[in-house]
Amino acid sequence: MKPIQVGLLGIGTVGSGTFNVLKRNQEEIKRRAGRGIEITMVADLDTARAKAAVGEGVQVVSDARAVIANPDIDIVIELIGGYGIAKQLVMEAIAMGKHVVTANKALLAVHGTEIFEAAQQKGVMVAFEAAVAGGIPIIKALREGLTANSIQWIAGIINGTTNFILSEMRDKGLDFATVLKEAQRLGYAEADPTFDIEGVDAAHKVTLMSAIAFGIPVQFSKAHIEGITKLAAQDIKYAEQLGYRIKLLGVTKRAKNGIELRVHPSLVPAKRLLANVEGAMNAVVVHGDAVGTTLYYGKGAGSEPTASAVIADLVDITRLHTADAAQRVPHLAFHPNAMNDHLD
Ligand code: HSE
Repeated sequence: MKPIQVGLLGIGTVGSGTFNVLKRNQEEIKRRAGRGIEITMVADLDTARAKAAVGEGVQVVSDARAVIANPDIDIVIELIGGYGIAKQLVMEAIAMGKHVVTANKALLAVHGTEIFEAAQQKGVMVAFEAAVAGGIPIIKALREGLTANSIQWIAGIINGTTNFILSEMRDKGLDFATVLKEAQRLGYAEADPTFDIEGVDAAHKVTLMSAIAFGIPVQFSKAHIEGITKLAAQDIKYAEQLGYRIKLLGVTKRAKNGIELRVHPSLVPAKRLLANVEGAMNAVVVHGDAVGTTLYYGKGAGSEPTASAVIADLVDITRLHTADAAQRVPHLAFHPNAMNDHLD
């Protein structure tokens, strides 16, 4: 079967990571998906940057609509970000019958209901594992692994930039502005880092988790949002002396009057696991009535961790897209020479 063809819109940090991981692990990914997955077309305003990132054999264009209009493309990856042009392109891709993979939490947290409805009507998937907590498969965990549960609450460190800033300020005594610049250099921060430091990015992510966990529409406008910009170095120091760490938490839980949705700096006892999540790492704690408390930990930002989530969505869609029903069930994809000689 010929590989499924993917068009990539925006080849920055995550886009180039996706391209590289897909190429590096192509044989394993093909086995798991039941079919090859190839990025055959890339759109980026900076075509020179795009060409340098993908090399020969991939068509590079500046016009994203050329990718969407290409009948050979089955899946469009949207990595442009923001609510503007990204929304138009996602809606157009859906209208053209393409599946969409996106890391755009801002777009989905604000316009998700409209986008998911359009996708449902058209019979295509909009997958967004990369939009929440980078490489941690938290969407899959909520949707599949914990599907038997009535979720009671979720609390998480879901913004790497702010966690990095708080960790570096505490450990190295560095000032806010210096650490923020470093987070930008490392590719953690959003294009507009205000979204990170004001808690908006975390609120986008908690909105998406809340919608999945509690079966409610995305309702970002209902979130209480407070970032870390009002915190001083002294706050961090005093918290430490009292046996706490300050963490920016995203919380959603069942409350008397509905579903609570909030992001704010919190005092976490220093002995708790969440207090010890350092740097750009993310951690999400989910409490379900059957399973109890579960914890998911990993890299929440950066090129290849986020690419890992983008590709997981590509594999899922490829499995569902293929005509062979047996392929639709994630199975053990044995390597043909997988006999393990080391075990007797
Ligand atoms: N700016 C985000 C963060 C990137 O710092 O967590 C990943 O969503």
